[in-house]
Amino acid sequence: MSPNQRRPLVGGNWKMHLLRDDAQRFCGTLLAGGVLPADVVIFPSCTLLQTVADALSDSEVGCGGQDIHPEERGAHTGDVSGSQLVDAGCSWVLCGHSERRQDHGESDDLIRQKALSALRYGLTPLICVGETHSERQAGRTFETLERQLRAALTEGPATFTLAYEPIWAIGTGETATPEIAQEAHAFLRGLLAEMLGDIAADAKRILYGGSVNPQNAADLISKPDLDGFLVGGASLDPEKFLAIIRSCGSDS
Ligand code: 13P
Repeated sequence: MSPNQRRPLVGGNWKMHLLRDDAQRFCGTLLAGGVLPADVVIFPSCTLLQTVADALSDSEVGCGGQDIHPEERGAHTGDVSGSQLVDAGCSWVLCGHSERRQDHGESDDLIRQKALSALRYGLTPLICVGETHSERQAGRTFETLERQLRAALTEGPATFTLAYEPIWAIGTGETATPEIAQEAHAFLRGLLAEMLGDIAADAKRILYGGSVNPQNAADLISKPDLDGFLVGGASLDPEKFLAIIRSCGSDS
């Protein structure tokens, strides 16, 4: 169990995986898992949003988009707006995932605009930050995190949740050690305290993402500034995802 007072949050980022039948089965297994010791939200591809939102509609489990366009509507082929996400049943959206930053060249400022747009529609932005392997090697981890966080929050959203996802740990099987993750989370919380004040920073949930699995989750969540997970690969298997969620409980 996370030793702090913040209720853990676990997100499942399905990325570009699964079809509607898989999504239905996944939600059935997840809901059969009973009372969970964490808030849970699933981030499926756009084509699966309605299916997942409908399947989870009578539950506490949330549904979120993987991306959002800053504008309400318009000629933006392939994009999705906040109102469309809400219409599909979403209450969350990822902003600034490293795969969007890298694959689509998303800038820090665009991510701030996306997070602001999310709030306009009542969606909670889950803002992702994290350094590359070469930035870590060069001793520039904190500088990178500070740049990303300040850019997202200066004249940015008042409401948000934060995820620390070191890029070198995503999909590589090379998880950050609990100590490395804690160091980054404590740094981010310190920055939040500077920007938002101690009380707001203390209340803010900071999730860790990067090769989280049922084997490493309990050690990670034992760290004081880790408040849950953003899970990629292991979130595609409902049993593994449930095991990760349960590792956030006191009896794990
Ligand atoms: P993996 O858990 O597959 O490393 O992915 C992490 C991630 O990118 C979650 O957003």
